[in-house]
Amino acid sequence: MMDIAYKDALKNSLFGYIAQAAEELQVDTYVIGGFVRDFILQRGKAKDVDIVCVGSGIALAKKVASLLPNNPKVQIFKTYGTAMLRFEDIEVEFVGARRESYTEDSRNPTVEEGTLEDDQNRRDFTINALAISLNKENYGNLLDPFNGLEDLENKIIRTPLNPNITYSDDPLRMMRAIRFASQLGFTIEKKSLNAIKKNAKRLEIITKERIVTELNKILLSPKPSIGLNLLFKTDLLQQILPELTNLQGVEYRNGQGHKDNFYHTLEVVDNIAKMTDNLWLRWTALLHDIGKAPTKRFEQGIGWTFHGHEFKGSKMVYKIFKRLKMPLNDKMKYVQKLVLLSSRPIVIATEVGDSAVRRLVFDAGDDIDDLLTHCEADITTKNPEKFKKYHNNFKIVRQKIKEVEERDHIRNFQPPITGEIIMKTYNLKPCREIGIIKDAIKEAILDGEIANNYEEAFKFMQNKATALGL
Ligand code: CTP
Repeated sequence: MMDIAYKDALKNSLFGYIAQAAEELQVDTYVIGGFVRDFILQRGKAKDVDIVCVGSGIALAKKVASLLPNNPKVQIFKTYGTAMLRFEDIEVEFVGARRESYTEDSRNPTVEEGTLEDDQNRRDFTINALAISLNKENYGNLLDPFNGLEDLENKIIRTPLNPNITYSDDPLRMMRAIRFASQLGFTIEKKSLNAIKKNAKRLEIITKERIVTELNKILLSPKPSIGLNLLFKTDLLQQILPELTNLQGVEYRNGQGHKDNFYHTLEVVDNIAKMTDNLWLRWTALLHDIGKAPTKRFEQGIGWTFHGHEFKGSKMVYKIFKRLKMPLNDKMKYVQKLVLLSSRPIVIATEVGDSAVRRLVFDAGDDIDDLLTHCEADITTKNPEKFKKYHNNFKIVRQKIKEVEERDHIRNFQPPITGEIIMKTYNLKPCREIGIIKDAIKEAILDGEIANNYEEAFKFMQNKATALGL
């Protein structure tokens, strides 16, 4: 039954051409790995297809390219013995079946030619070792030596070999196991989970870039706390983001505790995952409280405080991005900015003044909506009354922002009087006074002392210039 379904699905022309090439070259050929897994899970249109053949992957790729109507270019990776071509928007990768053996200090194995079984053996998980035949005699048959199909049905992540070997060979697979668990909502088999814990330290041989790729996939999964919790339980998170795991735990003094900011953070990340696919807003949620560990104090008569944690946290964002070799670009600045501003909107909900709203819109600029989305995700109270009240407060904030914005146009605000105008009016060369006047105009507008227009700003400039003796 199943096999017929696979055959039908493979009718599409790409697999037809590959099968034809395999037949002409007389090499056994299979589609394998993520494509088969996602196809069975019906996870939507594939972007990558992995083809394995018992022979030369490069020769097969060239043959397929010559048969395809558009004769695509074949990219060859000699060192790996692989080749890649594009068909429509799909990347098709070809490789010869291989056996692999690993050494202690590297995740790059020694490779020899092998059979399909050897190739399936070397793969990370049973659900990724499934292959479908593209050969004439058994076209469309599923080759499943490790009961991967059953694991897909039971939602289990399991390694084909002893998990200690699989993870020690290639420690990136520890991240992959957790990433798949988070993306697919699967459970990692107990034996495997123990092996991850045992091998956790070996993560140090994996490049930061690869770790971050997996972490991003965890963050982008429907319920990121599944992955983050697993990373924590297996001691991987302690190595990747100690700033985050430092938030775990509750300290009591004089009978007073504070919330566990680690588990609170996981809840915020889950909340934001329901609201947006913006990866950087998810990073913001992940890092929004990291400044709380280093700023935590117990103050007599007050209790636990985290003064300035937003500022401290935004500084830590830079260090974390740098250490994880993430690009230090506008995305990093966005996360820094939102962490810095993360407590500001709630203040406005209880404080009526428009000037606080104007200042917030000025500071957040185009990211004001994202900031409010973050703040709404940050509400994790279990008290239904409070939950309702806080959400309502943010509705008020959004409304206030809308009103002030319609009136004062502060978003992406450019002061109506430029330095040039000041220089021209007073016949000045660049000097300190120009900055002082410009700044005073900006402050006056944000405070609502004057309107955001040329006339009022010009008059204000004249008064200020007189006061400065110009
Ligand atoms: N693989 C592996 N060990 C790794 C990486 C990959 O055994 N560390 C194998 C798996 O069989 C996997 C296949 O190579 O299915 C392709 O890897 P990749 O394209 O990285 O992942 P996919 O499983 O296709 O999943 P995704 O596209 O979601 O990353």
